[in-house]
Formats: sequence, C-alpha cells, structure tokens
Amino acid sequence: MTDSLEFKDRMLSLGLARVSEAAAFASARLIGRGDEKAADQAAVNAMREQLNLLDIRGVVVIGEGERDEAPMLYIGEEVGTGEGPAVDIALDPLEGTTLTAKDMPNALTVIAMAPRGSLLHAPDVYMDKLAIGPGYPKDVISLEMSPAERVFELARAGGVTPGDITCCVLERPRHDDLIAEIRSTGASIRLITDGDVAGVIHCAESEITGIDMYMGLGGAPEGVLAASALKCMGGQMWGRLSFRNDDERGRAYKAGITDLNRIYSRDEMVRADVIFAATGVTNGSIVEGVKREPNFIQTETILMRSKTGSVRRMLWRSPIARNGHSSH
Ligand code: FBP
Repeated sequence: MTDSLEFKDRMLSLGLARVSEAAAFASARLIGRGDEKAADQAAVNAMREQLNLLDIRGVVVIGEGERDEAPMLYIGEEVGTGEGPAVDIALDPLEGTTLTAKDMPNALTVIAMAPRGSLLHAPDVYMDKLAIGPGYPKDVISLEMSPAERVFELARAGGVTPGDITCCVLERPRHDDLIAEIRSTGASIRLITDGDVAGVIHCAESEITGIDMYMGLGGAPEGVLAASALKCMGGQMWGRLSFRNDDERGRAYKAGITDLNRIYSRDEMVRADVIFAATGVTNGSIVEGVKREPNFIQTETILMRSKTGSVRRMLWRSPIARNGHSSH
C-alpha cells in the first residue's frame, strides 16, 4: 500500500479543524494589542501542540521559514505522533499578523494536508497570483495575458461587461500599474491591506463576496495554501514565482525548483487530494472571528476536502476556566 492510499482524509480533516481552532483561540487574546510577533507566536505554539497529537507522519513543507530562521514549524520539521499516513503539511498559523494586531478583518489561521510529496515546496519569495472561482471554461484567462485582457476575457466568458467585474488586489506600491490598468477597463477593485489567502478564497464565493478575480504579487507559501482551498471549493488559480535577488533564487533552487519562470496551475501546486482548514481570528467574509464572552469562547472554522468538494462550517464553543484556558 502506498502512502497516498493510506491518506485517510475523511477522519483526519476533523483533527485538522482542531489544529486551526487551537491556533485561533491562542491568538485571540492578542487581537488589537499592536503586537504582531506575540500574536504569531501564540498561534504557532498552539498549532504545533495540536498537530503533534494527530496520528500522522507529517512534514512541514510550507511553514514558518527555514530551519535556521524559525524555531518551530520550520520547513522540514516532522510533526504528528509518527504513526499513520505520510503527509505534507502547509500552514500559516496566523495569516494576517498585522490584521490581528490592528483588529482588522480577515485574519485567519490556515492549514492544509495532503499525501507526502504532493504539495509544491514554495520558497519564501513572492508569487504572481491569478485566481477565479468555479464555473468558467478551463484556462479562460492566464498569467501571460495583460491585466486588462484578463478582465475582458473573464467578462466575455461570464456574459457581463468589464464594469461588472470586481478584482481583489493587495494594496502595495508595487501594484500601482496593475491597479491603474485594471481601472482603465472599467472594472472595480477591492483593495486589501493584507491576507491574500482570504483574497483568493473570496473568488470561490463571488455571490457572497462580490469578488470575481484575484491578481497580484504576494507570498508564494500563501499561494500554495490558497491553491489548496480552491482545489476544495472549485476555481482556477495560476502562480509564477517572482525573485528580487540571487538570495531568493537560491531559496528556490534549495527547494528543488529548477525552472524559475514556470507557471504553476492550481493542480501543479497541489498534486493530490488535499484537506484544508481555516479558522477566523478577526471577523471576515469567509468565517467570523473569535468571539469572547465573559465565560465562553467561540470560533468558526471552514473545513474542506477536495476529494468530495465538501465544505463544512463548524462552530466551536467552549467554557473558559478562571485561568483563561478552555477545554480545547
Ligand atoms: P503575514 O501574516 O505573514 O503578515 O502575511 C500577510 C500577507 O499579507 C500575506 O497574505 C501576503 O501573501 C503577504 O503578506 C504579502 O507580503 P508583503 O507584505 O511583503 O507585500
């Protein structure tokens, strides 16, 4: 029996939800406290502790950084009890550290799991990302098209005008030209200050979020997490690594990537069935943030499996003990 056949995604997914819940619970007390590092550290500790309770032979392939940069959940760290299927883990214990520190929307804890060897080992560099939701013809747009062409082609495929299209873009100076070109088509833009995993996921629920397309440069590790979510929800995504210097190119070679210009489709970033969980830290359009009442805490998690396309939204509600701990 191969490692891939042993991937018991149905039961493992419930364990994965606990992992992202624990991270959200831990970082919740740091919402709005202006301390990105402390919020991230709390999420990392909790995520690692829960992950190590799962019966998996896990390896972190997308994590907190290289081994010499991150003491925990570093790339290559083995996690789980060491019993069970061999799996790749991609995680971002707190996607949106600044969003959390400033109590702004859409901070999430995020984790994906797939059979060993199936997730792209994306180095910590930028990725040029393009994503749309389900229901469009395959490859209707591409990274090789100009931003304006993408808007026109998507509008044509959807039977609408460019003015009906909304794109989501990270608000960064590097995107000034991109933003101007998209606006020149008549399309509108939802600018986000951080959190492009949520930005991409928004495309899969365009009737709720109003976002049709995601474009622009963001973290490559976040790209693989977003591709995992879209593989579960439906939708297309493409990514091309983007390098600013030789050090970043070196990171790609070290991760085993030889063609630095390659465009990866969603299924080339996530090459087998995947499970994905994200829990809201601050309120967002995908899930609600952590709610703290005097004696209770509540989290909302979205849990998905690509094999079945199932999407669960789970509320976890627990009494808080006097010492501030919960029963998680
Ligand atoms: P952090 O949670 O690590 O702060 O990342 C937030 C984020 O906005 C990601 O969603 C995005 O991919 C990346 O940062 C963009 O990087 P930069 O801030 O350098 O533009």
